[in-house]
Amino acid sequence: MKVLGLETSCDETGLAIFDSELIDSDNKGLLGQVLYSQIELHAVYGGVVPELASRDHIRKLVPLFHELLDQCGISKHEIDAIAYTKGPGLIGALMTGALFGRSLAYGLGIPAIGIHHMEGHLLAPLMGANPPAFPFVSLLVSGGHTLLIAAQGVGQYEILGESIDDAAGECFDKAAKMLGLEYPGGPNIAKLAETGNPNAYQLPRPMLHRGLDFSFSGMKTAVHNLIKDTAGSGTGSDSDPQVRADIAASFQHAMVDTLVRKSIKALKQANMSRLVIAGGVSANRHLRDTLETELAKINATVHYAPPALCTDNGAMIAYAGYERLQAGQSDDLAVTCVPRWPMTELPAV
Ligand code: KG4
Ligand code: ZN
Repeated sequence: MKVLGLETSCDETGLAIFDSELIDSDNKGLLGQVLYSQIELHAVYGGVVPELASRDHIRKLVPLFHELLDQCGISKHEIDAIAYTKGPGLIGALMTGALFGRSLAYGLGIPAIGIHHMEGHLLAPLMGANPPAFPFVSLLVSGGHTLLIAAQGVGQYEILGESIDDAAGECFDKAAKMLGLEYPGGPNIAKLAETGNPNAYQLPRPMLHRGLDFSFSGMKTAVHNLIKDTAGSGTGSDSDPQVRADIAASFQHAMVDTLVRKSIKALKQANMSRLVIAGGVSANRHLRDTLETELAKINATVHYAPPALCTDNGAMIAYAGYERLQAGQSDDLAVTCVPRWPMTELPAV
């Protein structure tokens, strides 16, 4: 089955074709994928401008679709079904992909299905041969969400914990901004941290001993105060590369330490031995390495997707769509987008 996946929930226009017959191939069943990032468009405003995002998705969807077909070497008539992100996300941006996908499916006479963006992230590490088996604990860490989920199967999700304020990725982005680094901050903090000492400064690990929920706003304030109090951490002429690298490394270390300790707690609480990490922050090398080491100590394993499938992309939507379509699920002709959508409301497969 060839499924076209469309991701337009925020500032990335992502399209991909997942072909279930290629699942054992090196490229994890992906026939092809294209991704256009609007980062530059929004950079001057310091954040995503929803109306500009929608307009740009509209401009890019058709050319990217043709580029994808060329890359895959197929005609549109060879597509068997279409999956699009139905929520959560910016309503205007979601509507562009949903309307494009739903109309194209109608024109081609094939089924279409709306996918939960975070389920796309959650299932991405399962693409390809030898996926981690259910049940597992999923740590979903993106720019908008931080969730610990006990997953028994596709659509069978129990929320074990979540952030009560900022998301993990958002915290990386804000700390990066304070250090004068560009958006998205996560990869830039990680790069700067490479030359820094993670133990140079002690930053808080909020809510470590309070259940499985997270809180990252205190961390943000701590970074703000640290920068204020530390000579050489600024971006101006007093800037000292080593001090800045030490702050980035100490911040990343505190974030990773918090995520790792909560994940271990969640595995113990759910009595599970597999942790699957997904979402943009799961691309973080320090997080992956620390989880590998710490989970080995408790006979548990960590699983993740290649970095390009951790951040927003069309492939994860195509794959989640495939999982649901092959179970007989699809949506009717109505185009409904859901900007806020609890994952626990998803039907089981
Ligand atoms: O999943 P994603 O692409 O988009 C959302 O659904 O939000 O996640 C984007 C987030 C951004 O906050 C970005 O800074 C963060 O993921 N991120 C990282 C890394 N790569 C992306 N954070 C830490 N380390 C990274 N290597
Ligand atoms: Zn995402």
